[in-house]
Amino acid sequence: MARKTLLALTALVVTGAYADNTSYDVNAGCSNDQLLRWYDEDIGLFLYPNGAYYFWQAGVMITAVASLAALDSGVKSRTAGMWQNTYLKGGQPSHGVIQLDSTGRKIVVPKGSANTVPGKFRKREQGFLASHYDDEGWWGLAWQDVYDLTGVQDYLTESIAIWQDMNAGWGNLNCGGLPWFKGEAKTDNPLAIPNELYFAISAGLANRVPSSQKQTYLSAAQTIWTWFQKVGFVNSQGLVNDAVNGNTCVNDNNQPTWTYNQGVVIGGLADLYIATGDSSYLTSASVIANATMAHLVDSNGILADSCDLSHNCSGDNLQFKGVFARNLQKLYHSQPYPAYKAFLEKNAQSIWQNDLAVESGDCFNGADWGGPYVLGSATASSQSSALQCLVAALYVSQN
Ligand SMILES: *[C@@H]1O[C@H](CO)[C@@H](O)[C@H](O)[C@H]1NC(C)=O
Ligand SMILES: *[C@@H]1O[C@H](CO)[C@@H](O)[C@H](O)[C@H]1NC(C)=O
Ligand SMILES: *[C@@H]1O[C@H](CO)[C@@H](O)[C@H](O)[C@H]1NC(C)=O
Repeated sequence: MARKTLLALTALVVTGAYADNTSYDVNAGCSNDQLLRWYDEDIGLFLYPNGAYYFWQAGVMITAVASLAALDSGVKSRTAGMWQNTYLKGGQPSHGVIQLDSTGRKIVVPKGSANTVPGKFRKREQGFLASHYDDEGWWGLAWQDVYDLTGVQDYLTESIAIWQDMNAGWGNLNCGGLPWFKGEAKTDNPLAIPNELYFAISAGLANRVPSSQKQTYLSAAQTIWTWFQKVGFVNSQGLVNDAVNGNTCVNDNNQPTWTYNQGVVIGGLADLYIATGDSSYLTSASVIANATMAHLVDSNGILADSCDLSHNCSGDNLQFKGVFARNLQKLYHSQPYPAYKAFLEKNAQSIWQNDLAVESGDCFNGADWGGPYVLGSATASSQSSALQCLVAALYVSQN
């Protein structure tokens, strides 16, 4: 795969697997440099191993890079061209559909021919809007992070456009809530993730728009949280299940409890606390955060989805843990519990000691933070997930 990037990369010498509060920035920088080697400037997205491109995951990857840039001025200046490039090219259809022309050059074919293109691109319809509400939701959060970093209004406007699209789908299930995708059967089980993303975007917008517009987003966030509690998404263990039963409209605890399901909602609750000053939102967040740190871990206390326990994560699962780390960082900002800090630092150290390969000074991170690293297994997805934990450890070590 071609190593192409618009960014001048800093050569780093990595001496062994060293990780503590003096090295989180170096470690995060090295992982970030490798992630950026998978960024395709022509397409404005990150390369998937089979030569296609990530879409929803790329939104999470943008969040990962932006959250490091927020803490590291060197990364911020090296990535300065990336945001607008992604904004202009990463969605469609200004945008359109990506195909190869007769000379093998990538070109953007205007919308309309979308159905002739196989694979992932068919999912992308217009700008960063998508057929699936969760797919676009990740971008709704990513553009808030990029707005925070740059102050460029266009990025906040893009987040608002995504919010409007999600808002239009609210309530389109028999149980209430936001469906997973447009046109979904009303009897389907409400999923946690689209609703959590819509919640977190709403709460985030409430803190970023002018005060005259705040109430719209604040009301939406509170409505979603009330519904989330009504259907019992948080189970008796304190963990969010992936879905609630679409027949009974209550959580029967029959669905998995992925780490990202815990992450997005605590980030939204942290923002809702900032928007309102009501500390009960932080208490609710700490129930979920504490339960995650207690139950969704391996035998060494390292964050693990069920697939990590069998060293068997693939596809979407690869990116879940980083989402939790990112949002625990957000929660720590308002609720600086030493236990959160210790957890993030311990996980960052495990990534560096157990889930790392260094090749010619380049740092590769795999899926399983407890290790072992499987040679050649790193993808932009596993890389960005680990990066979010390294960045979170950097943040908590300084705060
Ligand atoms: C780094 O960790 C050590 C203990 O491992 C501690 O003594 C020191 O204060 C920490 N430094 C910072 C900047 O947090
Ligand atoms: C979460 O754990 C912290 C200790 O790390 C504790 O102070 C807090 O009360 C716990 N939250 C809840 C809701 O039990
Ligand atoms: C690995 O995951 C797949 C699903 O992704 C599952 O079917 C298979 O049983 C898992 N293997 C192990 C050893 O857990």
